[in-house]
Amino acid sequence: APLHQNNYLVSGELKKWEGESSNIYSTISSTETYKPTWLGSIPNQGKQEALEALESACLAYDKGQGLWPTMKVSDRIKCMETFVEMMKTKREEVVKLLMWEIGKNLPDSQKEFDRTVDYIYDTIEDYKKMDRDSAKFIKSEGIYAHIRRGPLGVVLCLGPYNYPLNETFCLLIPALIMGNTAIFKPAKHGVLLITPLLEAFQKSFPKGVVNVIFGRGRAVASPIMESGRIDVLALIGNSKSANALQTIHPKKNRLRLVLGLEAKNPAIVLPDADLDLTIDECIAGTLSFNGQRCTALKVLYVHKDIIDEFNRRFSLRVDALKFGNPWEQGVKLTPLPEKDKPAYIQELIDDAKNLGAKIINEKGGKITENYIFPAVLYPVNKSMRVFKEEQFGPVIPILPFTDIAEPLDDMAESNYGQQVSVFGKDVKKLAPLIDTLVNLVCRVNLNSSCQRGPDVYPFTGRKDSAFSTLSVHDALRSFSIRTFVASKDN
Ligand code: G3H
Repeated sequence: APLHQNNYLVSGELKKWEGESSNIYSTISSTETYKPTWLGSIPNQGKQEALEALESACLAYDKGQGLWPTMKVSDRIKCMETFVEMMKTKREEVVKLLMWEIGKNLPDSQKEFDRTVDYIYDTIEDYKKMDRDSAKFIKSEGIYAHIRRGPLGVVLCLGPYNYPLNETFCLLIPALIMGNTAIFKPAKHGVLLITPLLEAFQKSFPKGVVNVIFGRGRAVASPIMESGRIDVLALIGNSKSANALQTIHPKKNRLRLVLGLEAKNPAIVLPDADLDLTIDECIAGTLSFNGQRCTALKVLYVHKDIIDEFNRRFSLRVDALKFGNPWEQGVKLTPLPEKDKPAYIQELIDDAKNLGAKIINEKGGKITENYIFPAVLYPVNKSMRVFKEEQFGPVIPILPFTDIAEPLDDMAESNYGQQVSVFGKDVKKLAPLIDTLVNLVCRVNLNSSCQRGPDVYPFTGRKDSAFSTLSVHDALRSFSIRTFVASKDN
């Protein structure tokens, strides 16, 4: 059934939007059976509603004196537990919308939902541990101290379309549990799937603690940032938006940033790599959710000694991947939510071809409405756009190398520094290589593709890839500040 409640959540009230709406159509349109379907509509809000939401969050925080930031830890936990229990009842609806709105396949949509629920429970547990630790005294030079962590203020949360539920909540949940209040605007795709959860927010948290508004990023996020009343900008997405938003904040020195941005994670395949395993991992790494992951492998460096064999087997595996609707069994490749993505990928392919690369898989580059079949490009070089840009879609550049210094130099020059995958067996060669790689990126994956999880591990990056660290444990710290009570008596 279409979702067209057109509700939004401000000041603890689920308000009916009477203004102009935006229609949301499905991503699914590229098979003969399914035409784009109207899924529902959302409020097309602007400055006035954005400022209303901001006022509501500021009132609830009340400069640190509000009910929420001063609430007992156990009571804040109860609110979060109520929320997650209510959220669990919406699994089927949210999973369906993940498939229809962003084209994520069924197993991955279910995983996104379940992972988010686990993340909330794990965050609650970590928060309890943090609270227990804060009850302990430490002593130095005759001063006893009770160290705790306190909230930062009002948070603006903006998540990405590729994980519209999970990554938005990876920001929002730790921000809330630490006593901050929040305004959150769902991602540009995967927006309707938030609507079944509005009631859970409303019923679980005190008035004004969570405010959910809809509308174009610029129309709603810009006035909020311009007000100078935001204490934390929490954004997973692109650096262009992050830069634009932080620049307009009039008191930048008071703004904390929690940002997850672009990446261009490489795989380095050494001559002694186990090719079966390497190809499995490179397929998953490059093409899970059609390559629309910040952690996706976006460039493959393969040693010249094994490149012919690698290319032959890798291309066959790519061509064997099943394209279809997200709910169909075994489907790995699905329609793309961004309408202009196939044309953009085509531009990258054309540019690479003009500069000497070829598509080496038979099906590569075939366009069907909102899909382009993954193109494996070889040999790619540094002058090509597909080497320089974060493709965030189904195109895979392969570069040959003879000396390990070649990929290492490229990584050192890159604007990004999130993760790398290394494939090889010789531990003696790998050990010194790892020592270099950890200074270039934040996570080195041995004989496995890059990924964010498990969510207890730090998720971050160097250079333009991230600012601050997310994980169950780290996010609680990213959204809080250390405070303490000092005393000469214990
Ligand atoms: O888009 C970036 C995501 O954080 C990737 O997460 O590695 O779990 O797919 P993932």
